[in-house]
Amino acid sequence: MALVYPRKIDLAQSPTPLQYLERASEKWGCGHRIWVKRDDLTGSTLSGNKVRKLEFITAFAIDNGYDTLLTCGGLQSNHCRATAFASAQLGLGVHLLLRGEVPQDPEGNFLLDHLAGAAVSCYPLKQYVNHLDDLFRQWQEHYAAQGRKAFVIPTGGSDGIGAWGYIAACEELAVDFTGHGIRNAHIVTATGSGGTQTGLTLGAALHKLPATVWGVNVCDDETYFLDKVASDAADWRRRYPDVPDVAIQPRVIDGYVGAGYAVADPYVFELISELGRLEGLVLDPVYTGKAFAGMIAEIGKGRFESSRDIVFVHTGGIFGVFPQRSGFDIASGYA
Ligand SMILES: Cc1ncc(COP(=O)(O)O)c(C=O)c1O
Repeated sequence: MALVYPRKIDLAQSPTPLQYLERASEKWGCGHRIWVKRDDLTGSTLSGNKVRKLEFITAFAIDNGYDTLLTCGGLQSNHCRATAFASAQLGLGVHLLLRGEVPQDPEGNFLLDHLAGAAVSCYPLKQYVNHLDDLFRQWQEHYAAQGRKAFVIPTGGSDGIGAWGYIAACEELAVDFTGHGIRNAHIVTATGSGGTQTGLTLGAALHKLPATVWGVNVCDDETYFLDKVASDAADWRRRYPDVPDVAIQPRVIDGYVGAGYAVADPYVFELISELGRLEGLVLDPVYTGKAFAGMIAEIGKGRFESSRDIVFVHTGGIFGVFPQRSGFDIASGYA
């Protein structure tokens, strides 16, 4: 059965480049070529992996008569910031439910949310964790009373609709592979709410990419993400019953969360600085830095067969660097 995509709205600057990391390969590759799919370049403020999901999510919302987007995440959520800018770009209302107290010093993604005109509600951790569904329902009712229709996007835009973003990206990767002579690869991505991993895993199977997809979890654990990818993929099949019947085997690289979500060990900050110097590439301490660190550690341990290339998906997140600036040692940079 042919794969028929639902409608999407063009929001991402794509195709993004696939870039060879010559010096990083020499330093950490142990004989593998390391490549980066530059999804940090899908845009400026509307950038990163979330844009690919939002292309399908916003089309769905508009086609179903919604005029407002309602979503949630941490104070520095890249997904919320991307949703805020997508909404502004499309003339939709947007309301973000954020986890945490109102910060004294708005910065990074939180500051940008405001610049995109998002309505923002901050909730203490306990209330957010225990009552998120109620909060969504209350705000939907609030907008309904005003004659508006608010669409709830789950954490990270990770569900059966958002999955299309990285299913489609696999078509790009297939072209990249042919163009760069990549015959067999491991694709590695940070995984936080599971949607990017779900899309890549489904997309690799649907488009017969010669690749194995791995998610490096930045929170929770392997079991959580194996379940999450399976349930997002099931949601995708349920919503789109005519899609081809492909079997998938999600794979997780666990062990690199460190002290917790958004808390990185010093070696992650050092790695980010080193890669910046080495390749002119900036990762972030919450997602891509941890995932890249996990990937090179696993290359060193021999997890990946030596004949295969490694493709790291740079999922963006640069605005998350600034609120964590105290983790970087910049003192040694003064001449
Ligand atoms: C920069 C960045 N990379 C990776 C991820 C993980 O993607 P996903 O939520 O689809 O697992 C996120 C969001 O959670 C992100 O903001």
